[in-house]
Amino acid sequence: MTLGLLLSPTSSHIAGWRHPDAISNAGAEYKDILATANSAEEAKLDFVFLADELCAPEGDADILSRDPVIYRFEPLTLLAALAVSTRKIGLVATQTTTYNEPYHIARKFASLDQLSNGRTGWNLVTSYVEAEARNFSQSEHLKYADRYQRAREFLEVATGLWDSWDDDAFILDKESGRYFDPSKMHVLDHHGEHFDVRGPLNVLRPIQGRPVQVQAGSSEDGRALAGAYAEVVFTAQNSLEKALEFTNDVKNRAEQAGRGTGSVKVLAGVQPIIGATMEEAQQKYRQMQELIHPVIGLTRLSQLLGFDVSVLPLDEPLPEVIPETNSYQSRQKLIVEAARRDNLTIRELYLQVVGAYGHRVVIGTAESVAEELADWFTAGAVDGYILSPTYLPDGFEEFKEQVLPILREKGMFREEYSGDTFREHLGLARPERGEARAEKIAQVQ
Ligand SMILES: Cc1cc2nc3c(=O)[nH]c(=O)nc-3n(C[C@H](O)[C@H](O)[C@H](O)COP(=O)(O)O)c2cc1C
Repeated sequence: MTLGLLLSPTSSHIAGWRHPDAISNAGAEYKDILATANSAEEAKLDFVFLADELCAPEGDADILSRDPVIYRFEPLTLLAALAVSTRKIGLVATQTTTYNEPYHIARKFASLDQLSNGRTGWNLVTSYVEAEARNFSQSEHLKYADRYQRAREFLEVATGLWDSWDDDAFILDKESGRYFDPSKMHVLDHHGEHFDVRGPLNVLRPIQGRPVQVQAGSSEDGRALAGAYAEVVFTAQNSLEKALEFTNDVKNRAEQAGRGTGSVKVLAGVQPIIGATMEEAQQKYRQMQELIHPVIGLTRLSQLLGFDVSVLPLDEPLPEVIPETNSYQSRQKLIVEAARRDNLTIRELYLQVVGAYGHRVVIGTAESVAEELADWFTAGAVDGYILSPTYLPDGFEEFKEQVLPILREKGMFREEYSGDTFREHLGLARPERGEARAEKIAQVQ
C-alpha cells in the first residue's frame, strides 16, 4: 500500500484547528511542519504532500475570519527546507500550469530533486479556484478545456527541459578545458499553441530523471490527462464501486497510451477517526463536527459546488438544477450525487462534506479502520491513500501508532524503506532521457 500525508497549513479537518489538543497553526511554524514530516518518515510513509492555491479565499472578511486556510508557505520554498532536513520521505508539492511558466517549474523541480537526492513529486493542477485569476492580471479564469490543453503542452515542455542533458554530460575535464560534452546537450526549441521555449534547462537533469508526476483530476479532461501522463493520481471517492470504476478507467487509459497499468498508482483521500471503541470514535467525530461554524460550512460547500448555497433554506435539499461549474467539476458531481442519494438537506450536506473536503471519512477502532482501508486496497479500488488527519499531531500519531502496525501485520505496508528515491519507494522506473511520456498521445487528444 502506498501512503502519503497531507501537510495542511492548520489541519485537514476544516475546524480541526479549534480542537483543544490541536496545534492551531501547525502549518505556519516550520518546527511543527518538520516534526510532522519527521514523524511521517519514521512511520516509513511514501511521501508528504503540500497542497496549494495561488490566492487567499475571497469573501466577506467576517466570514473569512473563521476560515483557517487563509495562509500557507509557498510549497516549493517549504519543500526546499524539508529536502535538506529529511532523508527518505517523498516530497510532493502542488504547482499549477495555469498561472506558471514551464521553464520556472522545470527549473525549480530539477533543483529540488537534486537537493533532496531524488525525492520530489509534482502535483500538477490546473487551478480550480477562480479567484486565482485576479492575482495574475486576468479578469476571467481560463475555461476548463483550455486549462487542460495548456496543461498538456506545459508538461511536454517541462519534460523536454528535464531532458536537456544526458546524465553523463558533464565531464569537467580540466585537462582539455571542457566542462561538458556538447553532443550531450539537447536544445528543446519548442513552438506550440501556448508556449515558445528554446531551452536547454540551466539545471542538471533531475536525480529521478523527472520528478514523479502526480495529478488529481477526476473529470473527463482530468482522467484523460491522468491516463496520458500521471504516475500517481489523487482522487476523492466515497464508495468502493465508484473508486473501482475510476481506478480501472485511469489504468485502462494508461494502457491505451502504451504505458502499462503498473505505471500509475491511484490514491484516495481519507480522513481516519480512531477510538478505543466504535462509540468513542463516533463521539470524536461528533466533537469535530460541532466545531464547524455554519458560515464556514456553507462557504466551503458553496466553493466545492461552484454554486452559492449560503442564501438557500438550510433545512431544504439542494435545488434541482446546479449549473456545471468551471471550477471543480468532479467534486461538484461527487457532492451532488451524495446529496441526492442520501436525500440530504443543505445543513446535513455541509456537515457531511466540508470536514474532509468531500474525501472519505473512516470512523472506528484501529482494527475496523485498518479493515476498511485494506478492503478497498485488496479489491484493487486503490493503490493506497493520502491521509488527511483531523488535526495535528494526534490525528496522525494515532494512525501511526495504532493502524500502521495492523497494516504491517497484514503484509500491506513496509517495515523499512528499501530505496532512497521517491520513485524507488513507489516501484516506478527512472525514465530514460528522451523517453516519450506516452506513445499514443495523438489518439488521446
Ligand atoms: C487529494 C487531492 C489534492 C488536491 N490538491 C489540489 C491543490 O493542492 N490545489 C488545487 O488547485 N487543486 C487540488 N486538487 C484539485 C484537483 O487538482 C482538480 O482540480 C480537481 O480534482 C478537479 O478535477 P477535475 O478538474 O478533473 O474535475 C486536489 C484534488 C485532490 C483529489
